[in-house]
Amino acid sequence: MDELRRAVGGWRRAGLSVGVVPTMGGLHDGHLALVRRSIAECERSIATLFVNPKQFGQAGDLTAYPRDEARDAALLQEVGADLLFAPGVEEMYPTGFATTVSLATLTDDLEGRHRPGHFDGVSTVVTKLLLQAGADVAYFGEKDYQQYLVVAKMVRDLDIPTRIQAVETVREADGLAMSSRNVHLSEAERRLAPLLAELLREVAAALGEGGESAPLLQDAVARLQAAGFDEVDYFELADARDLTLLARADRPARLLAAARLSNTRLIDNVPVPAACSST
Ligand code: PAJ
Repeated sequence: MDELRRAVGGWRRAGLSVGVVPTMGGLHDGHLALVRRSIAECERSIATLFVNPKQFGQAGDLTAYPRDEARDAALLQEVGADLLFAPGVEEMYPTGFATTVSLATLTDDLEGRHRPGHFDGVSTVVTKLLLQAGADVAYFGEKDYQQYLVVAKMVRDLDIPTRIQAVETVREADGLAMSSRNVHLSEAERRLAPLLAELLREVAAALGEGGESAPLLQDAVARLQAAGFDEVDYFELADARDLTLLARADRPARLLAAARLSNTRLIDNVPVPAACSST
């Protein structure tokens, strides 16, 4: 952390703007889009790599999380990041670490309902990373839309002097949202996986016509199950700003879903075009 502080301190004294991209590694083009955006908008860019144990539920998911720091470092150098900060667990959470950052809104439903404690882990580590980096801007992917809203709210509430910038989801050619966890998909699962994005797009378009959400959402869940998804945690229409669940897309809205193929949990979301009011 000393090295990070020294580097950022030097850049700040030189009047340079600084961007930061927090990641857990296993880097793909989605992560790199955030880094490229930072490089385009800021004079210096930091990527952080820390597989945060506090945001994992099942221990199995944490142990199985893809790790290859040398590959990640090479990719970051290739795109032109100025600094990689990859702290160890002891550095982030020394023995006796006792503080949790926890939001009273935005975290109960969707991911929060299916991953208890997850957002406390995310907000605690992101608070630390943002304070350590002291950057002007931090980049977060819309792929994890609820996480982006949680971080933006937390930064406002705690007066953390970093602007939170959202970046659009980067997808494979067949529409599957890029994710570090996609490496765990078998060939057959990989062929099935894009159905999640396809249904999100299809239902979002139908909701944009002004239809009621319940039958469309139920139908999407049934189609995922029929196609071979093992569990659909949620497929919901929500207010794009506060994630209140909606019966119709009568305000800026987002369609969000999470579903499992064997042990791999996929999450994705899309914006819903505003429905024209018929009244
Ligand atoms: P991780 O899953 O590694 O993602 C790091 C950042 O990359 C997040 O902001 C995420 O939304 C973004 N991202 C992932 N896949 C993307 C895609 N296909 N397109 C665009 N952006 C994408 O999210 C985390 O790590 C952690 O929770 C973290 C914020 C680092 C805290 O530990």
